[in-house]
Amino acid sequence: MRFDVITLFPELVRPVAECGVTGRAAEQGLFELHTWNPRRWGTGVHQAVDDRPYGGGPGMVMQYAPLAAALAAVGEADPRPARVIALTPQGRPLEQAMLRQLVQQQPRVALLCGRYEGIDERLLEAAVDEEWSLGDYVLSGGELAAMAVIDACVRLLPGALGHADSAAQDSFSEGLLDCPHYTRPEWIDGRAVPAELLTGHHARIERWRRREALGRTWERRPDLLARWIPGVEDAALLDE
Ligand code: ADE
Repeated sequence: MRFDVITLFPELVRPVAECGVTGRAAEQGLFELHTWNPRRWGTGVHQAVDDRPYGGGPGMVMQYAPLAAALAAVGEADPRPARVIALTPQGRPLEQAMLRQLVQQQPRVALLCGRYEGIDERLLEAAVDEEWSLGDYVLSGGELAAMAVIDACVRLLPGALGHADSAAQDSFSEGLLDCPHYTRPEWIDGRAVPAELLTGHHARIERWRRREALGRTWERRPDLLARWIPGVEDAALLDE
């Protein structure tokens, strides 16, 4: 998979290809990260990429031309068409299913990071396929959201995680929250590891985990349960 990130702060985004699981995946050649600074196509002595908003008001708006030039350069760098996604607070809230689909369908993704008050709407209309948001809060720019997209996609790539089905076991992979996890020691500060996990009985442990995942989702995110499709093995659990 190849990600091209258009950003005024490439140094902020690059570490996603240098650290942890995603760093290792980049080393293994499972994905490539390329960054493009639109300032290269900015105008004047300061290579400006922003200007005041028409109609007045505070802040600055990212201009059409430098972003269009950066996207054209992305297109020239690799002939395969890229899906162009802008990261903005106005976008569709990010969900695991969107990322899964992106990984399955798209070998190339261009991520456009907004800064300042936003991006000239005409560029979004002309060159962007979709707008995605990290959530209902405002960040200083789209970079953290772009990194979240890359990280969450990369862990879905075959071979990115050590254990073959770790991604399948991830929280949200089935639309539920994850169960609780414990490690040694068995007792600490008067708190014990749940006895089921010590039985060594694989089927019982799996059942306990599933029940915990369901219970937590019920308590913390009933909205997820409303959309969840139970598997055959869940029927008995739901009856309990
Ligand atoms: N840029 C600023 N806030 C954002 C958000 N919540 N999601 C994506 N990009 C953003």
